[in-house]
Amino acid sequence: MFEVDKFNAFLQTSWVAKDFIYHKEISSTNTYLRKLPTKRLCHGVVCLADNQTKGRGQYNRKWISEPFSNLTFTIAFKPGSADYIHLLALSCALSVLETVQDSLDVQAFLKWPNDILCKNKKISGMLAETVFKGNTLDRFLVGIGINVNQLEFPKPIAGQTTSLARLNSNKIICRESLLAKLLQRVEFYYYKWTKQRAELTQTINKYIIGYGSWVHLNHNGALLPETYKILGINEQGHLLALSESDEIKKITHEQIRIVPPGKEDIQPT
Ligand code: BTN
Repeated sequence: MFEVDKFNAFLQTSWVAKDFIYHKEISSTNTYLRKLPTKRLCHGVVCLADNQTKGRGQYNRKWISEPFSNLTFTIAFKPGSADYIHLLALSCALSVLETVQDSLDVQAFLKWPNDILCKNKKISGMLAETVFKGNTLDRFLVGIGINVNQLEFPKPIAGQTTSLARLNSNKIICRESLLAKLLQRVEFYYYKWTKQRAELTQTINKYIIGYGSWVHLNHNGALLPETYKILGINEQGHLLALSESDEIKKITHEQIRIVPPGKEDIQPT
């Protein structure tokens, strides 16, 4: 079981997770924070569950995670407006990536928009959602699943998925300490997001799979005919790609994915 007291002893943030909601079992932490009344929801609240019965992934997929082994949680932000909101989600992905790298001394990469890969296998995914009241952004939810101590994965994803423990010779990782470190980074990069977005985009770009290379793009499961040079993200968090005919394509939605060099014949995860 996730030990909240132990986590609080590790936590060194000033506002992220100062309100921490733990559930042993819940449908989905994103769904929970989506429904929490506005008055009850403070900026930086984190909801974590040891078991999600209806964990949600991107493209309406399920997120299945072994109960009590991994980290499944959502951070709610109240940034006031939706400007640069995709970059905020990417700053959280960056926080996961750097925390994973630091804790294991492995290289991690960002598969745009928000999967984290180590040794070509997915270790973390993210589901970002906006909630509007009228025209005003009421909350921005960043739901994160990290495979921490799960050692076996079901057949369909086994070949494409790994966990921190698997990369650590099957040795168990302390989830409470890992989450505390990660949330400290989230707070740090939130500050960068408000004040130094250009620097933040450069830091993110370094980790994007295909950055600076000519790659194929996959649109809704089909390879686009041309190749594109990945120029990195802009301050909106959109991906810029140069076509063979020298046009800059701005990729704003997640139905388009970069096909890592050499993986053109493999379906996206
Ligand atoms: C993906 O890669 O498809 C995104 C996975 C996001 C999973 C997390 S787990 C915590 C939060 N609650 C959910 O229901 N989903 C996100």
